Amino acid sequence: MIGKLNHVAIVVPDLEKAAALYRDTLGAQVSEPLELPEHGVSTVFITLPNSKIELLHPLGEHSPIAKFLAKNPAGGIHHICYEVLDIEAAAFKLQQQGARVLGDIRPGAHGKPVLFLHPKDFCGTLIELEEV
Ligand code: CO
Repeated sequence: MIGKLNHVAIVVPDLEKAAALYRDTLGAQVSEPLELPEHGVSTVFITLPNSKIELLHPLGEHSPIAKFLAKNPAGGIHHICYEVLDIEAAAFKLQQQGARVLGDIRPGAHGKPVLFLHPKDFCGTLIELEEV
């Protein structure tokens, strides 16, 4: 069902510092910061030859990642995203097998439909599925 690793998302306490670390210290290709108010995050995309890293920082009062940063003040891996060809079919199959889908299928940070799976059902990892 799952295909390529689309991205790993890392919540960071300082987006500029984290972007500089990836750009200058690790020598990666780093985007300008982008505010996504509808998702409650500011983000920097890092393009790797085989995948992406997304640096996330809370934006606004009701950011879904504010609690995570409060619990992990130095930052940390927030979720990993796998590609799927048909997200409706994936959601149906996963729910049939007892996995909990968090909320509804909705447009993600790249405008494509995404869903999130409960970390307790997947080895303590928050999983995002993105339709490609
Ligand atoms: Co993501």
